[in-house]
Amino acid sequence: MKGSLSCASTVLATAFSLATALPSHEPPQKQPTQQVAIIGAGAAGSSAAYYLQQYAKQHELLGISVNITLFEKTDRIGGRTLTINAYDDPSQPIELGASIFIEKNHILHEALQKFNLSKRIPDEDSDPKLGIWDGDEFVFTVNERDSFWWTALKVIYKYGIMAPRRTQKLMEATISNFLRLYEAPNFPFRSLTQRAYELGLVDVTGVTGEQLLKANNIDDRYAHDIIQASTRVNYASNLVRIHGLDTMVSMAPKGAMAVEGGNWQIFHKMAEASGATLVLNTSVASIGFSSETNHYSGNKKYLLRTKAAASESTRAEEYPVAFDTVIIANPYQFSKMSADEGVIQHTIDEIPYVQLHVTIFASPYQYSPAFFGLTESKDVPGGVLTTLAKSDGPTSGVNGAGKAGFFSVTTLRTTTNPVTQKREFIYKIFSPEKVTPDFLGRLFGVEVPDSFTSNPDEADSVSPITWYHPHVFYSYPQALPRVTFQDPIIGPGLYYTSGMDSFISTMETNALMGKNVAALLMDDILKASKNGCGGSEKVHEDAFFDQIQSEPESLEPEMKDL
Ligand SMILES: Cc1cc2nc3c(=O)[nH]c(=O)nc-3n(C[C@H](O)[C@H](O)[C@H](O)COP(=O)(O)OP(=O)(O)OC[C@H]3O[C@@H](n4cnc5c(N)ncnc54)[C@H](O)[C@@H]3O)c2cc1C
Ligand SMILES: *[C@@H]1O[C@H](CO)[C@@H](O)[C@H](O)[C@H]1NC(C)=O
Ligand SMILES: *[C@@H]1O[C@H](CO)[C@@H](O)[C@H](O)[C@H]1NC(C)=O
Ligand SMILES: *[C@@H]1O[C@H](CO)[C@@H](O)[C@H](O)[C@H]1NC(C)=O
Repeated sequence: MKGSLSCASTVLATAFSLATALPSHEPPQKQPTQQVAIIGAGAAGSSAAYYLQQYAKQHELLGISVNITLFEKTDRIGGRTLTINAYDDPSQPIELGASIFIEKNHILHEALQKFNLSKRIPDEDSDPKLGIWDGDEFVFTVNERDSFWWTALKVIYKYGIMAPRRTQKLMEATISNFLRLYEAPNFPFRSLTQRAYELGLVDVTGVTGEQLLKANNIDDRYAHDIIQASTRVNYASNLVRIHGLDTMVSMAPKGAMAVEGGNWQIFHKMAEASGATLVLNTSVASIGFSSETNHYSGNKKYLLRTKAAASESTRAEEYPVAFDTVIIANPYQFSKMSADEGVIQHTIDEIPYVQLHVTIFASPYQYSPAFFGLTESKDVPGGVLTTLAKSDGPTSGVNGAGKAGFFSVTTLRTTTNPVTQKREFIYKIFSPEKVTPDFLGRLFGVEVPDSFTSNPDEADSVSPITWYHPHVFYSYPQALPRVTFQDPIIGPGLYYTSGMDSFISTMETNALMGKNVAALLMDDILKASKNGCGGSEKVHEDAFFDQIQSEPESLEPEMKDL
């Protein structure tokens, strides 16, 4: 193998500089720079880039270096974490995608501090009244300004003391179990399936929220009203159509926070700090093999073909760098990418995603009490979550939205219209279908002209809707129960992060998978470089790969019993 002599001297030089802790005059012999491509600059891709650079820096003395190229088809970093501006005014940012995280989201919370971003408490100046509406009536309301005890009393009065207490306990146990995934020996993990199994997390992913709550003797009415309102606002799903882990995650957002100015900034800072070459406005169209081979393993490197994202028609062109490693950091089924024969050795299965309409707009009007079957404006809460009506079945309505027809309507804040200088409200609606003028007309008890949803520009300052921003996402998977997950290694030097989406889809968990892949990759570089220095035969990624391929299989008999 080429370079075994220089490898030996590298090891000696490193050993010497480590042993004496003196600045060495000769810099360590450089190993060949590992060329790494990351496809997608969302939470997962940015975090992968950031941690890979960190790990490489820790191993600088071994002469290890990485050169990261981050491809992103849009002109911004963040993916499903994105911010828009009310009235297109940059001083009024609003989260269109992922909006909150919690302190136990270690990666995000640490990044917030490390990058000196400011924390914002969401909904701080929104209406403190929150109600759960079933399409007929409010089944529960709270006022966040009320004392904890008053609220607790209201809950206990309606649902008893055991349901909230058992839910809290179950949620805490599940989350702390999940957090073990961050630490050695559980981190890094070559198989999410295997780790979920070892940590007992498949016990909660393998059942529906409804089954999990029943098994834990949590009162049906509490599950139906309170917990289901949470799974609907967080994952657009009723308890029969979401697994137990996501159900517990939906109950976790106590102490929620966000980044002042937009959560995407965390990922922007990560990408920046990684020193990656950013290739924006560029979609990767396909992955194939290069004729070059990896210095250590002898495996073929990868070639990417890319095209300008703006023009659908342009032909893809070969990117000039051959990559030792490629990380696919987006849901493959939506990526419009193809892979040449033999590249993806572990087929990436398609999974169902929720199609969610997120509609954000401004209006001088407030909800009509009549819409909710009330008479007094003062009784209408600014935040309305929904659950199924008594007459609904568990999958009634469009995508289970039931009689209510939407998942949530919230008043984000009171603000000043920059044109009219009048007081207005900013609203956000989560719904399974496009919001119609008719619906808005009924919600506010005013005439909303038909024209404005089809032509948002007509939403002028005298209209009941003064600014309007609709968006449709493939927001997250429809998280039906499952006990296997797409594993992160899909070929030698080829990684995939979005298997995490069907386990838990959040900014944090996808960032964790990005970090995990960075750690696996660094392990492989370290092992391969050591083996390479022994001057020995072709190694060893194949062996690793064979090994991880066999891991999930060996679990299968036991999992069938679940
Ligand atoms: C409305 C909504 C609300 C949410 N609320 C929350 C919340 O409150 N808290 C929370 O933690 N999570 C929330 N989530 C979930 C969270 O946004 C996602 O789990 C997370 O952001 C996904 O990160 P990712 O990096 O895995 O994928 P993505 O963010 O989807 O990133 C993938 C990136 O890859 C790019 N890409 C795709 N194909 C190609 C290609 N061929 N070439 C180049 N680039 C490509 C895309 O443009 C994108 O930038 C919410 C999601 C939505 C939609
Ligand atoms: C790193 O990658 C970029 C872009 O993909 C390339 O232009 C550059 O030459 C590479 N640098 C090194 C040191 O390999
Ligand atoms: C990406 O495209 C947008 C809109 O087409 C353009 O405004 C922007 O300058 C482009 N950015 C880069 C880095 O090419
Ligand atoms: C962090 O931000 C604050 C204000 O936003 C600023 O005063 C401070 O100097 C910043 N610190 C660093 C290390 O950038």
